[in-house]
Amino acid sequence: MTTVLTGITTTGTPHLGNYVGAIKPAIHRSLDADISSYFFLADLHALIKCWEPERIAQSTREIAATWLALGLDTDKSVFYRQSDVPEISELTWLLTCMTAKGLMNRSHAYKAQVAENQEQGSEDPDKGITMGLFSYPILMAADILMFNADEVPVGKDQIQHLEMARDIGARFNHHFGEHFVMPKAVVDDNVAVLPGLDGRKMSKSYNNTIPLWLPEKKLRKHIMKIKTNSLEPGEPKDPDDSALMDIYRAFASDEQVAEMRQAYRDGIAWGTAKQIIFETLNTELQQVRQNYEDLMANPAKIDEELQKGAAKARQSAKPFLAQLKDAVGIRPIV
Ligand code: TYM
Repeated sequence: MTTVLTGITTTGTPHLGNYVGAIKPAIHRSLDADISSYFFLADLHALIKCWEPERIAQSTREIAATWLALGLDTDKSVFYRQSDVPEISELTWLLTCMTAKGLMNRSHAYKAQVAENQEQGSEDPDKGITMGLFSYPILMAADILMFNADEVPVGKDQIQHLEMARDIGARFNHHFGEHFVMPKAVVDDNVAVLPGLDGRKMSKSYNNTIPLWLPEKKLRKHIMKIKTNSLEPGEPKDPDDSALMDIYRAFASDEQVAEMRQAYRDGIAWGTAKQIIFETLNTELQQVRQNYEDLMANPAKIDEELQKGAAKARQSAKPFLAQLKDAVGIRPIV
C-alpha cells in the first residue's frame, strides 16, 4: 500500500495552477486500489502569509468545496483541515527542536523575502519575516511525516520543501530510531509550473491567477488576457515558448496538443488559439462547476466531510504521536 498526501494553503480562491499541479493528479491517483490518500487544507500555513480572517475562512470553504466538487471520494481518502488535527502542531514542535537553523536559512521562501528586502534597499534584511515564514518547512514536514506519506504530488515549487522534510525526518530517525518513512515529491513534468496571465508562474502572490470556478464568460475573458507576443496572424509562432500552450497542454489530449503545435507553426492568430483553449478548458470545467456551486450553498455538508476526515486522520495521528513522544522521552510517569 502506498500512502499519498498533499495539501493546499487556504489563502485564496483555487486557481488553475492548484487544479492541474495538485488537485487533479491527486484525485486521479487516489482512485488506484493500492493507494491510501490524505488530502488536506493547510490553514495553519495560511496564517503565515495572510492575516485576514475572512479571507482564510472563505478560502477554506472554497478549497474544500473544490476537492469535493471534483469528485474526491471521502470514504476512500482522508480529507481534513490541518488545524483540526492538533497532533500535527505538536509534532511540529518536536521537529522544530531537532531541526538545524542552518537548514531553514536555505529555505527558498525565506531567502526570497530577504532578497526582496535587499532589492528594495531595506536596512533590515529580515523585515516582514515572521518565525512562521522562517520555519514554514518544519510545519510542512510534520504534515507529511505524521502520516508516513510515501508520495507527495506537488508542483515544482514545493520540491525543496520535500527535500527538507526528508532531512528533518532522517535526523529524527537517526537519533531516536526508525519512525518516519522518507517521502518523495511527485511532479508531473507536463504541468510542473503552470504559467499565469503574465507568463510567470501562476500564483496568488503574483496576482496573475485564473480562478478555477469563474463563470463561463469571465473564464473566456481571462483566457483572452493571457500574455502573448506581437506576432500577427500568418506569422509562425513558437509552441515551445508560449504560456498559452503550457496551459493548453495541461488540459488537452496529446493529439490536440500536436494539432495546436502545428497550428502555431502555420501562424494561427492568437485570438483563434485562445478561443480553442477556452473551449477545451470550459468543456472540462463546466461539468463540475455546478457541483461546486451546490456545495458552496451548503456549508454544513462541507463541514460534515471535514469533521469525518479529521476524525479518521486522528485515529492514526494520536497513537503515532504518542509513539514519537515516547521515543524522545516524553512519557507517562508510571
Ligand atoms: P500552495 O497552496 O501554494 O499550492 C498548492 C499546490 O498547487 C501547486 N501549484 C502549482 N502547480 C503548478 N503550477 C502552478 N502555477 C501552481 N501553483 C500552485 C503547488 O505546487 C502545490 O502542490 N506548502 C504548500 C502547501 C502544503 C503542502 C503540505 C503540500 C502545506 N503542507 C504538505 C504538500 C504536502 C503550498 O504552499 O502550496
